[in-house]
Amino acid sequence: MNIAIMASGTGSNAQAIIASARAGILEASVTLVLSNKAGAPVLEKAAAAGIPSLAIPYDKQTSRSAYDRKLLAAIKQSGADCIALAGYMLLLSPEFLDGFHKPILNIHPSLLPAFPGARGIAGAFDYGVKLTGVSVHFVSEEMDMGPLIIQAAIPLEQDASIHTLEEKIHAIEHRLYPQALQWLCTGRLSCHGRKTVLMPASIKQAPPPPGCLIWPPLEEGF
Ligand code: GRF
Repeated sequence: MNIAIMASGTGSNAQAIIASARAGILEASVTLVLSNKAGAPVLEKAAAAGIPSLAIPYDKQTSRSAYDRKLLAAIKQSGADCIALAGYMLLLSPEFLDGFHKPILNIHPSLLPAFPGARGIAGAFDYGVKLTGVSVHFVSEEMDMGPLIIQAAIPLEQDASIHTLEEKIHAIEHRLYPQALQWLCTGRLSCHGRKTVLMPASIKQAPPPPGCLIWPPLEEGF
């Protein structure tokens, strides 16, 4: 399977996906990293890894449908079988979703459906939750609300700072996203309404990160 990654920022998740594919743990190729921000660090990371990268900046002068047509053309040209949104800060329009008939995944730094949107980590921290986490899900028209694939629940220590929480969340994201993509790329995921079903396989489980619950469990290598 060919994966196109869409990202707007730092690109640590893109980097984790690329590294897992390179290592053969994730049985897929990343064929394009596409950003809506020219100069986004994710583009440098892709270029450093030898992955084709492209910025298609969105400006208010361009109509949204013209912009989406450009995005779709680039994605289709890359031969993508699926898209991984990794910190892509522009909501995909219904036109885009209608034009791409293949799976689109997203990663979000909270235990969805709690704290969707741009402030997933800070929103949960400021609210004073005792558990937050990471979710990987299929993309639907409503932001951060598609069927869930895998989630990690992370407890907040009394003395946790937002900085330590961010570090914990990102470290777990880098394991969850390649795992979810591996399940997708090996045909083990199916969607039944809102429910995602993972086909079992005889693969050993990986040791879980201490003090965190991940469900379904990560498999060996992730
Ligand atoms: C991650 O926290 C992801 O969950 C969210 O955006 C952030 C992207 O981080 N959707 P990075 O650019 O992959 O480092």
